[in-house]
Amino acid sequence: EKGGYEHFMLKEIFEQPRSIMDSMRGRLELEAGHLNMGGIRAYEQKFVNAQRIIIVACGTSWHAGLVAEYLIEDLARIPVEVEYASEFRYRNPIITERDIVIAISQSGETADTLAAIELAKSKGATIFGVCNVVGSSIARATDAGAYTHAGPEIGVASTKAFTAQVTVLTLLAMIMGQKRGTITDTKLRELMVELDTIPTKVEKALLLDAQIREIAVEFKDATNFLYLGRGYNFPVALEGALKLKEISYIHAEGYPAAEMKHGPIALIDENMPIVVIATRDSSYEKVVSNIQEVKARKGRIIAIVSEGDTVIPPMAEFVIEVPHTSEILMPLVSVVPLQLLSYHIAVLRGCNVDQPRNLAKSVTVE
Ligand code: F6R
Repeated sequence: EKGGYEHFMLKEIFEQPRSIMDSMRGRLELEAGHLNMGGIRAYEQKFVNAQRIIIVACGTSWHAGLVAEYLIEDLARIPVEVEYASEFRYRNPIITERDIVIAISQSGETADTLAAIELAKSKGATIFGVCNVVGSSIARATDAGAYTHAGPEIGVASTKAFTAQVTVLTLLAMIMGQKRGTITDTKLRELMVELDTIPTKVEKALLLDAQIREIAVEFKDATNFLYLGRGYNFPVALEGALKLKEISYIHAEGYPAAEMKHGPIALIDENMPIVVIATRDSSYEKVVSNIQEVKARKGRIIAIVSEGDTVIPPMAEFVIEVPHTSEILMPLVSVVPLQLLSYHIAVLRGCNVDQPRNLAKSVTVE
């Protein structure tokens, strides 16, 4: 059942080239030059005219929502708010009939997310679901939606569901941008071509497994970790930190790299491991400066860089090179080494990777 892998989590990490592809199938038609998403067809005008999009989710799904905020604002130019479902539902939020609420949930059973949907529905908003489990409560409670086709996720720590969510949300943002005319045909075509290469790039990122295990050996006894990223890689930093916390029980925090000097930089000394996601994108130069600031305080830097980077390696103790892709698709690739790092650290610490203490796969109580 684990297909030869020691844990479900590892199997699911390695399934990602496939689950990303399955989540694009029938939706990205490269040869015909089409993007389709059955779930939005009936609501196309609503999406085109939406004043605002509110994304509600919890945990890893909330991180996918943060990536979607960048995607939708970039490509479709609609203002997006990303909300923890548990806060949103109790806040007396302002919701109108012209809002679209996107609810993201792997299990489709998360109590807070379901309650946030019911609240938004009662105010007349249109609810769009991005769920993995077919026929789940959230899938049934939404007006429309698009399933992620990640297949069953057994490991409590979410991995392939996250990349499947980001894939579906990327397609959604591209379609919205196309319909609203906020993205040129050339740019759209470029993105379609690049998105089609992502399963292969994830496959390549998985080849880093042995190297990442070596790095894990080095850091398995750490008591704290910082994860830093900017732009599209900021949600990836949050996700990397969450993965480490939940399965290895090491305290970890994700931060937008520029926020470091507003507090967390005080934590940095020669014992602090700092994972910096520093792939080549529009914030690259700024991330390089952030790495210099960390280095000046003797932090132990593990840098995730784009293949061929020559600037960062001399500055970092460990360098993990991932295949390069478009900035807006990078989370799909850059999250993979972070999943593997947390997995190997947890295994080396003797933790129960698939069923970490205190956690349940679906949180059906608030
Ligand atoms: C993290 C994790 C949780 C879930 C969260 C939401 O690895 O598994 O943070 O992401 O409980 O669950 P769903 O997506 O089922 O609503």
